[in-house]
Amino acid sequence: MAGGSGTRLWPLSRAGFPKQFLVLSGNSSLFQQAAERLQDLGADDIAVQAPLIVGNEEHRFLVLDQLRETGADPAAVLLEPMGRNTAPALTLAALQALKDGQDPVLVVTPADQTVTRPAAFTAALQQAVREAADGSIVILGITPDRPETGYGYIRSEADARGLAVAQFVEKPDAATAQRYLDAGGYYWNSGMFVLRASVWLKALQRFRPDIATATEQAFAAAKLDAKFVRPGKAEFAAVPSESVDYAVMERCPGSEFALRMVPLDAGWNDLGAWEAVWQVADKDAHGNATQGDALLADSSNVLVHATSRLVGVVGLDNVVVVETPDAVLVADRSKSQDVKLIVNQLNASK
Ligand code: GDD
Ligand code: MG
Repeated sequence: MAGGSGTRLWPLSRAGFPKQFLVLSGNSSLFQQAAERLQDLGADDIAVQAPLIVGNEEHRFLVLDQLRETGADPAAVLLEPMGRNTAPALTLAALQALKDGQDPVLVVTPADQTVTRPAAFTAALQQAVREAADGSIVILGITPDRPETGYGYIRSEADARGLAVAQFVEKPDAATAQRYLDAGGYYWNSGMFVLRASVWLKALQRFRPDIATATEQAFAAAKLDAKFVRPGKAEFAAVPSESVDYAVMERCPGSEFALRMVPLDAGWNDLGAWEAVWQVADKDAHGNATQGDALLADSSNVLVHATSRLVGVVGLDNVVVVETPDAVLVADRSKSQDVKLIVNQLNASK
């Protein structure tokens, strides 16, 4: 899933070049890292097929060029004419996967994360693939270390087969997130989902038949152009916008759909907002991280990301400064989720 807009990483992440295609850690983009991580998933009992990419029409060349650099050859690139969030995106991929009469287990992954221990990542995903073979929906749970409001929260319960998900709450408010942390036993949702293509379609049909039917109509009207698959534009515009988490995952506990969790302890991080970029960055003894040209004095726990000019910071704590040629962000680091409020204002004034 590579079609998000990454608004919380404004002003570096832009509509034409959103965060998943930026190099924010290491030498490759987040999208490339996601593709590379999946190349090692094979095992004696797991045959990995070529990836399906679902992204925005506007980014088709970014997708192809960046993918080529990783050596991955996509089975198809599904191009959305506009963003409708992840539930329709996954539906397009599931319909494409079912086309040649197979019903493969889909390993659904975001394109905006980093992982520092790839072997642990591979082992957890292989376990998830094995558990999903029987029709279960499997999610990967991360042990939380702060009351982050940008994630889904999972409460799991051990049973004879492993871990069943008893509760899934997408993006709780700060007080609720703190309550979950204090209570213990909660995990963050990693945003990866492992399930058979047919199981996704059945679950969506059960919980959000409006999204399922509208996306099927858009897929039925698709035009093919080499590896590009373009759903019907008018039909896709009519699809309700919703995430996988709200549309299905929150509703699974207590339903006929078995939602399972595999713990993931692999140095996972969602680079969703500047706070997370600071978390994974190399820092000096005062907790300051600088990317690009920056000079700091009497400051601590600051992140500076400068792309074209020298940035100076004096006497500040816990701030984020992001400099680009045409826009500068200065924000309280703990409020970095709210950068999207600026983008909303920008979009409203267009
Ligand atoms: N194709 C496509 N189309 N992809 C999309 C779209 C879309 O309309 N919208 C988002 N994506 C992609 C993003 O590029 C990203 O790779 C992935 O889908 C997840 O979307 P985000 O918008 O980044 O979701 P989130 O981070 O707010 O929340 C999800 O991930 C968290 C962990 O990172 C949820 O699954 C949370 O529960 C989870 O904790
Ligand atoms: Mg994200």
